[in-house]
Amino acid sequence: MRRRYTSGRLIERDLAPDPFDEFRAWLHDAVTKGLAEPNAMVLGTAGADGRPSSRTVLLKGIDDGAFVFFTNTGSRKATEIAANPQVSLCFPWIAMERQVLVCGVASTVSRDATLAYWLTRPRESQIGAWASHQSTVIGTRDDIEASAAAVGERYPDEVPLPDFWSGYRVVPDTVEFWQGGVARLHDRLRYRRGGGGADDAWVVERLAP
Ligand SMILES: Cc1cc2nc3c(=O)[nH]c(=O)nc-3n(C[C@H](O)[C@H](O)[C@H](O)COP(=O)(O)O)c2cc1C
Repeated sequence: MRRRYTSGRLIERDLAPDPFDEFRAWLHDAVTKGLAEPNAMVLGTAGADGRPSSRTVLLKGIDDGAFVFFTNTGSRKATEIAANPQVSLCFPWIAMERQVLVCGVASTVSRDATLAYWLTRPRESQIGAWASHQSTVIGTRDDIEASAAAVGERYPDEVPLPDFWSGYRVVPDTVEFWQGGVARLHDRLRYRRGGGGADDAWVVERLAP
């Protein structure tokens, strides 16, 4: 199970000044390398009780300094975000010996932005969102399929946007780029808000591997 990481090096002078520009370049690399689900990210949340939980969601956009995903507002993750908006994201690009780690604050996007994305979803995905009270305990597989069939009959044409479904935006305060290195001397470069000034510029720091 032990592999040597030899893919590349990460040097300060090669980084873009803005972490989103650097992230776009890395996402582009993951797409062009043919990684499965390159926009999948592991979202970590912790609710009022402080117990962490994580799950995979899909990055659906980068909008005005935020990472955006969509989900059910009654789900476990959404309930935890409502109680505590501090979240983490992990892009596990293992096949490229890379990961990107984000810490930040989550909030819902506007209804207009949610609707704009909703309208791009395939009908079956729209029906699936209506049919599932995400994260609740259900009986059998038949129950959820019957629920989806009923939604399909209720909305034979357009499927409206459910009021329990929304986009979320994560505004980062740190974004770490990790590149595996030889002899476990990995490169870790972390952008952190804190340069001061009107725009509170990003500072890049190297972390011990
Ligand atoms: C590759 C992949 C992508 C997923 N994308 C989403 C997504 O974008 N939104 C979502 O709500 N769930 C997505 N899921 C399902 C979630 O991982 C999770 O099961 C669901 O959101 C319920 O999570 P919760 O009970 O912790 O709220 C995805 C799962 C996988 C494996």
